[in-house]
Amino acid sequence: SPDTAPGCPAHPAAAAPSAPALFTWEFGADPYPAYAWLREHAPVHRTELPSGVEAWLVTRYADARQALADARLSKNPVHHSEGAHGKGKVGIPGERSANLMTHLLNIDPPDHTRLRRLVSKAFTPRRVAAFAPRVQELTDALIDGFAARGEADLIHEFAFPLPIYAICDLLGVPREDQDDFRDWAGMMLRHTKPGGTGGGPRGGVAKAVKKIRGYLAELIHRKRAVLPPEPAPDEDLISGLIRASDHGEHLTENEVAAMAFILLFAGFETTVNLIGNGTYALLRTPDQRELLQKSLATGDREVLATGIEELLRYDGPVELATWRFATEELTLGGERIAVGDPVLVVLAAADRDPARFDAPDTLDLRRTDNPHLGYGHGIHYCLGAPLARLEGQTALATLLTRLPDIRLAAEPDDLRWRGGLIMRGLRTLPVEFTPAP
Ligand code: HEM
Repeated sequence: SPDTAPGCPAHPAAAAPSAPALFTWEFGADPYPAYAWLREHAPVHRTELPSGVEAWLVTRYADARQALADARLSKNPVHHSEGAHGKGKVGIPGERSANLMTHLLNIDPPDHTRLRRLVSKAFTPRRVAAFAPRVQELTDALIDGFAARGEADLIHEFAFPLPIYAICDLLGVPREDQDDFRDWAGMMLRHTKPGGTGGGPRGGVAKAVKKIRGYLAELIHRKRAVLPPEPAPDEDLISGLIRASDHGEHLTENEVAAMAFILLFAGFETTVNLIGNGTYALLRTPDQRELLQKSLATGDREVLATGIEELLRYDGPVELATWRFATEELTLGGERIAVGDPVLVVLAAADRDPARFDAPDTLDLRRTDNPHLGYGHGIHYCLGAPLARLEGQTALATLLTRLPDIRLAAEPDDLRWRGGLIMRGLRTLPVEFTPAP
């Protein structure tokens, strides 16, 4: 029932006497009461993360929006006062050893401006729109795999493979290699621990990153060797990146690899969680699920479109935006942030701020006043948002249309959420339904 939906605090936040425990498994299952407390009592809150790094958590919508667009907050981990990046404590586990650092989420203007312009040239809305039939085909093939069985784990059989195959196709990873990617991506998911570490330098995440790095380097090399002088209309993204040039300045092979890597990394677990968290929230809110199903049955896409945005706001894939570091002293929400301090903007908390959203803990698929921060804000605003929307809309619409009586096959308390600092998502999502042909 809506009373037990995630985010409806069992204990009113205001009654909590002191700062709630953060980053425990219980917190992972429902962080929203703790975020409500922080928003009210400590909106810019300094805390020690499980990795031992001290960081500021920003939980109010207005502060969050300001911080995301503040040029004094750098994305480059060299600005961290503790130099923790060298110890693998901030950033993506394994990326440093694999030399994939120079990607969009780690750099500032003017490098960011140059690289973002180049990748935008290759990552066009046209390319994404042309991709819609393929996303539909992938979605249907995955549902075909379990429809006759009457039950499935939607994370493993649906939400996890869909984005990885989609992004591989878009990048131009040959079909015969895509199952390797699926395995490496699976390693990355399995080994992510609370606090965002990958289990140390020899951990599973670092190993997976190394494999991906090696494969991409070779693939880029091969594609460069056979690149035709003029682009084909359906040219893949890696070829587009190799071709992309700005005032005659080409991307280096390493920059192409770092870019392909960040597209994979940023576009994979996020979309898994959009489909996973989104389906979960819908299955727990019968009136909204019915509303969406009725509207899909009439061929209307309006509720689907506003609904996906609402699901991003309500329980979005990215719980905290990626790291930012103060390059000069600044004041945020009344707190003094010192040079070198890490700042983590808690998107999940900002998007439930009652100062910005009416009835923020209610899932309302028809919400139109919804400037949520699920895709970030400012110059690092999600580059892949059109692709994420396409995948999310296709996945949910197809699932609810082909398996109309789909329902949860587990008690919410028995479901486990994945650890990890940045992302928020379920490990498994068991469902049942009337077997379909
Ligand atoms: C950046 C969310 C899917 C590529 C971001 C940021 C957020 C975000 C919050 C900003 C992070 C920050 O400022 O620290 C999401 C969500 C997704 C999604 C919720 C799915 C529902 C995708 C996909 C791709 C992608 C499918 C690409 C294939 C990127 C890239 C950036 C980014 C390249 C960095 C942009 C920059 O720094 O200029 N995303 N993302 N994302 N996203 Fe996404």
